[in-house]
Formats: sequence, structure tokens, C-alpha cells
Amino acid sequence: MNYLSVKDIDSIDEWVKEARELKANPLLYKQLGADKTIGLLFFNPSLRTRLSTQKAAQNLGMNTMVMNFDKEGWALEFEDGTRMDQGKSEHIKEAAQVISQFCDIIAIRAFASLEDKDKDKAEIVLNGFRKYASVPIVNMESSVSHPLQALADAITLDEQKVNLEGRIPKVVLSWAPHPKALPHAVANSFIEMMQKQNADFVITHPKGYDLDPEIVGDSVVEYNQDKAFEDADFIYTKNWSSFEIYGQVISQDKSWTISKEKMDLTNNAKFMHCLPVRRNVVVSDEVLDADTSLVIEQANNRTYSAQTVLKRILDNIDL
Ligand code: CP
Repeated sequence: MNYLSVKDIDSIDEWVKEARELKANPLLYKQLGADKTIGLLFFNPSLRTRLSTQKAAQNLGMNTMVMNFDKEGWALEFEDGTRMDQGKSEHIKEAAQVISQFCDIIAIRAFASLEDKDKDKAEIVLNGFRKYASVPIVNMESSVSHPLQALADAITLDEQKVNLEGRIPKVVLSWAPHPKALPHAVANSFIEMMQKQNADFVITHPKGYDLDPEIVGDSVVEYNQDKAFEDADFIYTKNWSSFEIYGQVISQDKSWTISKEKMDLTNNAKFMHCLPVRRNVVVSDEVLDADTSLVIEQANNRTYSAQTVLKRILDNIDL
């Protein structure tokens, strides 16, 4: 069993239920991962993913190995049949097989280049490991998706259901400005997760920031942020670069920053963001520091998201 995208979740309700049980009793399966090792390979920086996945593995009794591959590993070649006479020292073919000798699960973070849409969509790093490793693979944010974050967000939304008194929630995914070009992975996986939920789900962003139509599918897109925010119960905010003019920042419109005035348009909505977040660019201090902000609990739930995934893999590993 691999965990590569939200599509690998067969029942979001079951997975969230299991995650909440693990959150209530994190050490219940402390023996499950005894003598098993997870290798966490980072081609890009991380705070939450790195620590929460280690914590999750430790809660299951696993050993952890962490490697900052971009700084500490040999530069990897992912193309087959190339003559390796340039900067790349090792082929993924050997690297993935070698890491599989030391690790029972391999988890990988490798962001989009934001330079070549086709290459990013092909998930060259993640699929390279999938092809040549002989152990399960976990996606810790790839070019296209961040399914550990999406599962944590599903847990966070579920914990808030108690406040809805049986109502179907209105959940809005809102673009916000950012000075740098950011990937689409978090937004993509949040959309895929919301498409599995019973919710009134709306995506809002300026024109030109439409996400991959293959992922957006039939989800509602509203280009007027104020209109989208009306009656919202949850505002999930994320910046992403243009998908159409691939990887470009085509607007930094400050009027899309999540402010108290924007939140006042909602049904006293809770604010969500995967973090890290740029204060007073993406969201105002006032919104981020308010009691209605769920960002710290989202980060906390990353442990139980990862623990659910690792437990399911360990349950199947010797079958
Ligand atoms: N949300 C998230 O994935 O955080 P990190 O990039 O710090 O891991």
C-alpha cells in the first residue's frame, strides 16, 4: 500500500474516525512498528511535515531516518537511458533500491519545479521512487499533491462538526496574495478531499488563477471573493501561482488578503491555513490570532493524519 494522493483514501469517514481514535490514544499501537524503520527524504524544506511524521512514526514504535536529500544526498538522475556525464551522480534506479534495503517505508517531499507543467504533472521524483523502491511510499508533498495535509484538514473540519448542529457546512477555499510563486499541491489535495465531503464547497480566486481543471472538476468557482464568503463556515486560505501561465505570479492584489472585514462577511467562519503563512500579506494578524483561527490545531492534526497512514501501511506490510 502506498499513500500518494487523496485518491488512496477509500473512505474519508473511516480514515478520519481512525485518526481521531489515534489522537485520543496515540500510543495504543506502540508495538505495531517495532523493528520497522521509516526513511524521510526531503528535497525541500519543512517544519510540520518533518516533525509530525517523525512523531507519528515514534507513536507507532518505529525508528526514523531523516535525510535532507537536496543538501546531503548525491544529485539524482530520474531520466532513463541518459548518459550521466553532467552534474547528476546517482540514478534513482540504484538510490531507491538501496534505500529500500534500510527502510520499511520511504516518505518523500519533492515540490513542483513550477517551470515545466508536464514534468511536474508527471511527478518524476515520487514516481521514480514508486517505480524502483521495493517498500511502500508516502507522499509528504509532491509536485501535485499534499495528501497528509488534506487528511489533517479533514480531521480538523470533523472536529468542528459539533458546532454546526447538523448543518451542512459551507467551506470556501480562497486564494490570497503572496510575493513568491507557490505550488498548487495544498490547494489540489484540499479540493480532492472536499470532493469526498458532504459540504457546500466553493473555490474563490482572481481570474487567471484557475487550478488544474482535471482536479477542480465540477467544484464551484466564484471569482468574487466577497460573494464567496457570504454564509461561509470555514475559510481555507492558500496562495498558489498561476496554473495557466504556469508558475507565474500574475497578481498580488492586496484586496484578497484575509482581513477582519472579509471574515465579517461570513457566518462567523473559522480560519484555516496549512502554514507556514506570511502575516499581513496572506492574512492579517487579527484573523490569525483570533479564537476562530484553527491553524495550530491543523498543524497538531498532522501527527494523527500521518499516524493513520503509517498504521494502515504497517497493518498491510507483512501480508
Ligand atoms: N503544511 C506543511 O506541510 O508545513 P511544512 O512545509 O512546514 O512541512
